[in-house]
Amino acid sequence: MIIIKTPEEIELMRRAGRRAAEVLREVCDSVTPGITTGELDKIALAAMHALGVKSAFKGYMGYPAQTCISVNEMVIHGIPGSRVIQDGDVVSVDVGVWYEGFVGDNAKTVVVGDPGSDVMRLVTKTEEALAAGIAKVKNGVHLGDVSNAVEHVANENHLSVVREYVGHGCGRSMHEEPAVPNFGLPGRGPILRTGMVICIEPMFNLGTRRIRTLSDGWGVVTADGKPAAHFEHMVAVTDDGAEILTPR
Ligand code: MF3
Ligand code: CO
Repeated sequence: MIIIKTPEEIELMRRAGRRAAEVLREVCDSVTPGITTGELDKIALAAMHALGVKSAFKGYMGYPAQTCISVNEMVIHGIPGSRVIQDGDVVSVDVGVWYEGFVGDNAKTVVVGDPGSDVMRLVTKTEEALAAGIAKVKNGVHLGDVSNAVEHVANENHLSVVREYVGHGCGRSMHEEPAVPNFGLPGRGPILRTGMVICIEPMFNLGTRRIRTLSDGWGVVTADGKPAAHFEHMVAVTDDGAEILTPR
């Protein structure tokens, strides 16, 4: 069942989302050569504390950190630690927070210095795919229309789409129905209705779509070691479009 939120609940999710976006901005602004991913996680903790929110990730199925920070060939779920950010890195930051019983969830990939034109294409087109998906969202459309719009941007730009991980509904739990794939067919899947809240989160790879999980049980890396990018917004379905609840 896909939960429809009341206007009051959407307002709380707006506040959760704005706080998640603020934490994400502070972390991304701090991504510079020489800093470790563990230090970035501490910056997130301080920002969450200042905003009166808690990480939605820490403790989730035993996840040990505040955020996920995934560098280069890591697609998602990178556990922050001793890894040092280098010039030319591509860094995906994922932030989820609890606020007044609701989750705000968003992610963004930033580049450090000049990673080269292929990586720039990967990052700009993954962000563009998220925008293309959001542009399809509206009361009455099929979820497959959204998924297909995201996939289309990958196909057009010779990027591959990770299939094992997808977006999700969001609310009083981080993961609610529906699953929101980054691939699919127009006219298929559940119909979106005003008051639903979904997280759309394209994960695109420069090389193969195949992935594997690291021995830490979390980190997801590309099978060929080529870079990946990840962008996520939490959006509410409205009568005539989508409201981005995690505005940058
Ligand atoms: N944005 C991710 C998601 O939607 C973050 C989950 S990380 C975890 O699932 F550690 F909490 F699992
Ligand atoms: Co998410």
